[in-house]
Amino acid sequence: MQSDVTTKQEKLQEKLHVGIIMDGNGRWATRRGLSRMRGHEAGVEAIRRIVEAAPKQGIGTLTLYAFSTDNWRRPKAEVAALMTLLRFYLANEVASLARNGVRLTVIGRRDRLPDGIAAAIARAEQATADGDVLNLRIAVDYSARDAILNAAAKAAALTSLTREAFSQLVTGEAGLRDVDLIIRTSGEKRLSDFLLWEGAYAELHFTERMWPEFEAADLAEALACFHGRERRFGGLQSLPLEPAPSL
Ligand code: IPE
Ligand code: IPE
Ligand code: MG
Repeated sequence: MQSDVTTKQEKLQEKLHVGIIMDGNGRWATRRGLSRMRGHEAGVEAIRRIVEAAPKQGIGTLTLYAFSTDNWRRPKAEVAALMTLLRFYLANEVASLARNGVRLTVIGRRDRLPDGIAAAIARAEQATADGDVLNLRIAVDYSARDAILNAAAKAAALTSLTREAFSQLVTGEAGLRDVDLIIRTSGEKRLSDFLLWEGAYAELHFTERMWPEFEAADLAEALACFHGRERRFGGLQSLPLEPAPSL
C-alpha cells in the first residue's frame, strides 16, 4: 500500500505546474542606484513571497530559474555573490520549507558548484522530501538543452523508449507534469534555455515587472490570464481530443 505522503505528492501532479524565469534583479537595483547584488538579495525575498503564495493559487509544482549554465559568463564577483546567496538560502530556508510542506529539489548540474553547496542541496532535499503542499524545483547551473542531451545519452542504452520514459530522464522525476505556464519578468521575451522539453505546450506570460518587485498579486494576474486562454493541444476548442495515431 502506498503511504499517505506518496499519495498526496502524486495529487500535486493534478495541480498546475508553473515555471518562472526570475529576471531583472540587476536592472531593478541599478535603477535605484544600488549594486546588482542588492537586486539579487531582493530577488530572494521575492522567492519567499511567491513560494508562500503558490499553493494558495492552485499551483502544485513551481520551477524557478535561479542560475543558468550561461550565467557562469558573468563577472566572477557576481557569480560568487550569487553562490553565497544560494548557500544562505539553503541554510536558512530549509526549516521553514519543511514546516510548510514544501518539497525542494534542485535541477541542473551540481559538480561545478563551489565546495559544500552540493552537500547542502542534498541535505535540503532530504529534509524536505515529505513535503506534499508544493513541489518546488530550483534550477541551478541549468540548461534545458543539456538536460535533453544528457537524457538522450542515457536513452541510447535503452532498447525501447516512450515519451514518458524520456521525460523522466529529462526532468529527473517520474510522472512530472508538463509545465502549464512559463512566466518571465523584466519585459524580456525569450526562454533562455529554460524547460524546452517540458514546455512544449506551455502558455507564456511576459510581464514588465522586475523580479524583486514581483508579488502574490502579480502571480494571481498571470494565472488569471492563463485561465482565460484557450489551450488546444492541437485539437479544436471545447471538443474532446481524439487519440493521436500511434507512432
Ligand atoms: C536574474 O536577474 C537573476 C539571474 C540571472 C541570476 P539578472 O541578474 O539577469 O538581472 P538583469 O537582467 O541584469 O536586470
Ligand atoms: C535567464 O536570465 C536565467 C535566469 C533568470 C536565471 P538571464 O538574464 O541570464 O538571460 P539572458 O542572458 O538575458 O537571456
Ligand atoms: Mg537578466
